[in-house]
Amino acid sequence: MVMQPKPRSESTVTMTQIVLPYHANVAGNMHGGEVMKLMDSAAGVVAARHCLSNVVTASVTQLSFIEPIFVGDLVICTAELTYTGKTSMEVYVCVKAEDLERGIIKSVSEGYFFMVALDRNGRPREIPPLLVENEEQQLCHDAAQARISQAKQNKNREGKC
Ligand SMILES: CC(C)(COP(=O)(O)OP(=O)(O)OC[C@H]1O[C@@H](n2cnc3c(N)ncnc32)[C@H](O)[C@@H]1OP(=O)(O)O)[C@@H](O)C(=O)NCCC(=O)NCCS
Repeated sequence: MVMQPKPRSESTVTMTQIVLPYHANVAGNMHGGEVMKLMDSAAGVVAARHCLSNVVTASVTQLSFIEPIFVGDLVICTAELTYTGKTSMEVYVCVKAEDLERGIIKSVSEGYFFMVALDRNGRPREIPPLLVENEEQQLCHDAAQARISQAKQNKNREGKC
């Protein structure tokens, strides 16, 4: 079956969350794991929107925490599709934090999430291709291909567990 390509704009999502004390350590810094959970959720929404099926996270790369996030900040997490393979896709996730007392927004985290679409039996299933609409999206797509090759090489190496 030939699947119709879908543009990035059909799946892009922005999710927000206020940082509460239970998201943070005793000094008021948001836990990295809480940030990653929000990023993973946003990547999952993008992937599910694109392929309209169950999706799982296969791997994450180039995840970085650039600036701290504090209790009371509004976390703004934007996720967008950069690449599609046969059954897998890459989602770029960018996180900003807004200091609601000062009205300052800063970039705090980013990363690339590889997601795989699954059928009802939990096996990888084919997905619609991404419709690349401009030069910027083509550059993102090309860069993603290099990361995918790296992820495949990493997967083929013997793991420790
Ligand atoms: C991800 C998973 C479905 C891949 O299964 P698999 O049998 O290895 O699948 P395949 O080798 O046929 O690969 C399927 C696709 O996934 C990609 N893939 C597999 N492992 C990957 C990895 N570690 N990183 C990036 N992509 C990966 C492959 O490149 C392939 O992409 P393509 O079809 O676009 O070329 C399987 O490893 C899994 O279920 N992992 C657990 C996922 C999970 O529980 N995540 C956390 C909760 S959401």
